[in-house]
Amino acid sequence: MIPVLLHDILAAVAAKADPEGTTPLEPVAPTGNPAHGDYQWNFAFRLAKVRRQNPRAVAESLVAQIHHPLIQKVEVMGPGFINLYFDDAELARVLALQAATPAIGLPQIGAGQTVIIDYSSPNVAKRMHIGHMRSTHIGNALYRLHKAAGYLTIGDNHIGDWGTQFGKLIYAWNHWRDDGAYAADPIGELERLYVKFGEQGKLPENAELIVAARAETFKLQKGDPTNVGLWQQFMDVSMAEFKSVYARMGVEFDVTLGESAYKDMTDGIVERLKRDGIAEPSEGAWIVRFEDPSLKNSPVIVQKRDGASNYTTTDIAAMQYRMERWNPDRIIIVTDMRQQLVFNQLFAISRRMGVAAELVHAWFGMLVLPEGAMSTRAGNIIRLVDLFDEAVARARAIVDTRAPHLSDDERANIADAVGMGAVRYADLSQHPQTDVTFSWDKMLSFEGNTAPYLLYSHARCVTLLARAEETPDPGAIRLEHPLERELALAVLRTPEAALTALKTSRPNLLADHLYDLSNRVNRVYHDLPVLTGGEFRASRLAQLDVARQALRTGLEWLGLRVIDRM
Ligand code: ARG
Repeated sequence: MIPVLLHDILAAVAAKADPEGTTPLEPVAPTGNPAHGDYQWNFAFRLAKVRRQNPRAVAESLVAQIHHPLIQKVEVMGPGFINLYFDDAELARVLALQAATPAIGLPQIGAGQTVIIDYSSPNVAKRMHIGHMRSTHIGNALYRLHKAAGYLTIGDNHIGDWGTQFGKLIYAWNHWRDDGAYAADPIGELERLYVKFGEQGKLPENAELIVAARAETFKLQKGDPTNVGLWQQFMDVSMAEFKSVYARMGVEFDVTLGESAYKDMTDGIVERLKRDGIAEPSEGAWIVRFEDPSLKNSPVIVQKRDGASNYTTTDIAAMQYRMERWNPDRIIIVTDMRQQLVFNQLFAISRRMGVAAELVHAWFGMLVLPEGAMSTRAGNIIRLVDLFDEAVARARAIVDTRAPHLSDDERANIADAVGMGAVRYADLSQHPQTDVTFSWDKMLSFEGNTAPYLLYSHARCVTLLARAEETPDPGAIRLEHPLERELALAVLRTPEAALTALKTSRPNLLADHLYDLSNRVNRVYHDLPVLTGGEFRASRLAQLDVARQALRTGLEWLGLRVIDRM
């Protein structure tokens, strides 16, 4: 693979120039402009700074050390940029090597390491809505990428299944439930009850509702059999709803350890925090204060005055449990941006407790509706199942007109892959840390940087290769045309793009790459003769075959279901 190979070549040169290794090897990046070579290396600037020398002179001395068959030409540009040009035959050889391996893989940077990815994590007793989508999509893509990179990967759904919402729900259940409605649509009835409590509890004349709900929560926490039974019943209904949504999304968790899993650990956690001098008393409660300037004004409560623990206490318990059970090297928690403070606090406390794992809060921006915030009361909640149904129906309408000759089953299968893929890709191709305004049209577009376009690029290669009949021969690959060369570079950049997405928690960087790769596939497909390519036929078929594999694998890393025909 080019970047890895290139990294090795340059690392050797850098090690010679900087034997103490004080200067980190600057990453090399594609130039994006053939006039400046294929890749550019900016190490000279750093090294020059350390050595207090002229960067251009340092670059010249580095260049004199670069000798490798892959590097056909190397030159210093401007104040000290090093432009690298690849040799065509060598590039073809590397691509053939890639084509001959059974699958496009990732360098196993996670071998021997464990990562926990805490994602999706909805609160129970409500249907899943589009507000739950981003954590599920991003978390699942990160999960797949870590797995591919060799990590022992644990996906954990930290559902919100404990706490004050149950007292409200139990109160509402006891006073307002409609048994007929519950029998017909259990989760729908629970949601209605929850919303009703929210509305009623707000009214000034109903102040006693809150008190009554708190009493129910208290009873539940003390193990009252009736309330525990109701809790279990609500849980079962919620889990059934979640499971069906996840099945449709192709999402599976290794463990589902919600807040309730830690309820018996929180008292011990608070004791430990007191004993270790991490928590201190404050007006009858126990709090943790921070030195760090960014957290100085944000102490956090770990035990309330009534002795109850809270969201953060539960997360500290989860942290301790995870460290003891899996001893992970990395923990990633995927939630929206509103929880940044909460996790900064949690991570700071974890450090003081001696947690050495790398802790990542992969936060993402809000999904907003064109008319503003989504709220159950405003009645503008878009349920995930409705979104999926609509997406698949729109895809189905297109498949029906474009491919009426296919069987009903096959059209349904294509519509599902395209519709579900469109939603997922529209989400993942955005920079996670920006807000996204929900739009049916954007989400379901079949043009440009969208799943339908990428899936179609892939399927078309499959069809072409099937028509060719002969087995593609990697040994036949030659890069004669600039478009072929660009395609080869894009294919070989796929693992690099995936690793960057993994390291930065930004699946959109992989999505961008796959879009670029599709464009290059389509240029070769359209602009160059393939089946009628004469002496180039075997080479181009083999190129499209390896490109198709890269596209397929990349899309699967994002969690799309890739189909061979559409
Ligand atoms: N249930 C929470 C919510 O909906 C997200 C949980 C995230 N994970 C965690 N370990 N706190 O906001």
